[in-house]
Amino acid sequence: MESVDLFSTWKGELQTMERRLEDKIAIVTGAGQGIGRGLALRLAREGCHVVVADLNEATANAVTEEVKALDRRAIAVKVDVSDAAQVAAMVDRTVAEFGRIDILVSNAGILKSFPITDFPEDVWDAIIRVNLKGNFLCMREVAKQMIKQRSGKIISMSSKSGKKGSLWNAAYCASKFGIIGLVQSVALDLAPFGINVNAVCPGNVFETPLWDQLDIEYSRKLGIPPEKVREKYIEKVPLGRGCTIEDVANVVVFLASKESDYMTGQAINVTGGQEMR
Ligand SMILES: NC(=O)c1ccc[n+]([C@@H]2O[C@H](COP(=O)([O-])OP(=O)(O)OC[C@H]3O[C@@H](n4cnc5c(N)ncnc54)[C@H](O)[C@@H]3O)[C@@H](O)[C@H]2O)c1
Repeated sequence: MESVDLFSTWKGELQTMERRLEDKIAIVTGAGQGIGRGLALRLAREGCHVVVADLNEATANAVTEEVKALDRRAIAVKVDVSDAAQVAAMVDRTVAEFGRIDILVSNAGILKSFPITDFPEDVWDAIIRVNLKGNFLCMREVAKQMIKQRSGKIISMSSKSGKKGSLWNAAYCASKFGIIGLVQSVALDLAPFGINVNAVCPGNVFETPLWDQLDIEYSRKLGIPPEKVREKYIEKVPLGRGCTIEDVANVVVFLASKESDYMTGQAINVTGGQEMR
């Protein structure tokens, strides 16, 4: 019987899996660092031209250069996703530059944690404004263009905190649960136009700048030293490790590709088995 080299077959499959999104136009918000930066670079490796959108102009510029180094077109857009006029300008600029929008990755988000009785109202407002209203505004403006095209993929960054409550995280959880309701509703609005709207719910992605801040905040709420916090969170994960940016990117690329054409209104867990609903 002829023997099959499974490893080289698998490697071959991986090679053909690259560039599944050749010449697609993608907007990634919060792309200046962390998960958003990783997604912008992975989408570029898959063939996308990328709009690198972030509140922080300097980091957006830096990531734009990284995308260009991958031989893809890229522009940096300074945007506050919670400001309707700025979001509309981001969409106009994308269409002026690239002529269309195939993919929106609505990733920008913030997190601050406090016990409920000490939760400052302005922090509550900021988290809901950026995480929830920001997603609404980006979807609303991008949808106008995608409806004209009668195609598009909208992917929103929720969290495992969008499926289950989390200590000291009233505002963050409310915003991430809210994103799932938003995604399910907008999926219905846009289904007649062949536009897919889905959410991704990652577990703890430690390789992000966000976690430098969370080590300190969570050490206070758990009463353990900052260097022990990640260990404590990994103990809760059946697959025994933190989530990587690449784990998230694998699902985002799938949701941005034709392979997910029959999926809409879903909220996909990428949590190593920690969240199953
Ligand atoms: N890191 C994790 O463990 C984790 C887990 C699940 C979900 N998430 C979600 O993934 C997304 C990215 O998280 P991250 O860990 O990369 O965070 P991060 O803090 O490292 O990066 C967030 C980026 O968003 C930008 N941003 C913040 N407010 C903005 C605004 N108003 N307009 C435009 N850009 C803005 C920041 O400048 C920054 O570049 C967030 O929505 C977060 O809630 C993160």
